[in-house]
Amino acid sequence: KTYSVAVIPGDGIGPEVVNESLKVLKAMEDVHGGLKFVTKEFDWNCSYYLKNGRMMPENGLEQLREHDVILFGAVGDPAVPDHVSVWELILPIRKQFEQYVNLRPVKLLRGLESPLRYKSHQDLDFVVVRENTEGEYSNSGGLTHEGTPYELAVQNNIFTRYGSERIIKYAYNLAAKRSKKRLTVATKSNAINYAMPFWDEIVKEVGTNYNVETQLYHIDALAAYFISRPEEFDVIVASNLFGDILSDLGAATVGGLGLTPSGNINPEKKYPSMFEPIHGSAPDIAGKGIANPIAQIWSISLMMDHLQMPELGELIVNAIEEVLENTAIKTPDLGGKNSTEDMGNAIVSQIYKL
Ligand code: NAI
Ligand code: MG
Repeated sequence: KTYSVAVIPGDGIGPEVVNESLKVLKAMEDVHGGLKFVTKEFDWNCSYYLKNGRMMPENGLEQLREHDVILFGAVGDPAVPDHVSVWELILPIRKQFEQYVNLRPVKLLRGLESPLRYKSHQDLDFVVVRENTEGEYSNSGGLTHEGTPYELAVQNNIFTRYGSERIIKYAYNLAAKRSKKRLTVATKSNAINYAMPFWDEIVKEVGTNYNVETQLYHIDALAAYFISRPEEFDVIVASNLFGDILSDLGAATVGGLGLTPSGNINPEKKYPSMFEPIHGSAPDIAGKGIANPIAQIWSISLMMDHLQMPELGELIVNAIEEVLENTAIKTPDLGGKNSTEDMGNAIVSQIYKL
């Protein structure tokens, strides 16, 4: 079977880590007979913007649509405002392709220790399901009375029944398949008094159809529980902003942003899904060849799961864990001295050994 993969390396460390993940993609062809990935690279990033005045061509989404999946690095450069790079490239892809599920596994890998020293590997293994098309990240609002003392910015949070129901259903289905059969819901219905009671009500309605235990926590308390009792969690469903924050927090509990992947998924497969690390372009370490490629490589594992080859997805995670547990190879974020390339190559050779 042949799959076409659109590759958008982006800015900063994006291209550095994508380069390593493409080696892993190639290795998948070698370990699985008959499998082929045809990749096409797109140079849409902040340099493209500085040359062309836009982050991608006018028909960019049409070009991407022809592919089965998208592999994304990260965008963002100090020379371009962040809201431009994010709103003109990554958010249109997520929204237009109805990638309404942002799947973010948080798992303490074998061979690593959590900064929460009293927590073990069994304690840190859960999935954040983030709503990815609406909520707080809506392009709706405005600025008025500029230059006066009454200057005012309004940003609307948009929660639709359709959008909330589909993400909550997805999360319940996922929770029902896992062993703990527990769904934790992030809310803030005490203070966000229209959108969040609405969200909670939909949770209640959808939940009656599942044999899954439901916990609702306000986001502030939930953030604290991520640190104090992560072992309680299995699947967590959250709105766009809350899910974004929880997944970076989760990443910190398992060793940092270099270690956590994400899938932007259109479950109906009507449009291509997109796989990327949760981290950004990390301008502070870009160009040094020291970024940790694990998050990007793990995103290939999520891609394999999505393409219904979970055994390949598992093989990639196993190879990453073998390298962390049984070799001395570590990038600087993990306290080592190895390069991005050393780590990528070690994972690839482990894939061939397993
Ligand atoms: P960031 O995730 O790029 O970096 C935060 C910190 O984590 C930095 O100290 C960085 O060195 C470190 N880090 C991140 N990835 C790492 C890796 N693979 N290995 C080792 N260390 C790593 O977030 P920041 O600094 O807030 O944003 C930088 C730029 O990235 C901004 O322009 C921002 O808008 C953009 N961004 C883009 C995203 C995307 O393309 N999906 C997501 C988040 C941020
Ligand atoms: Mg983020």
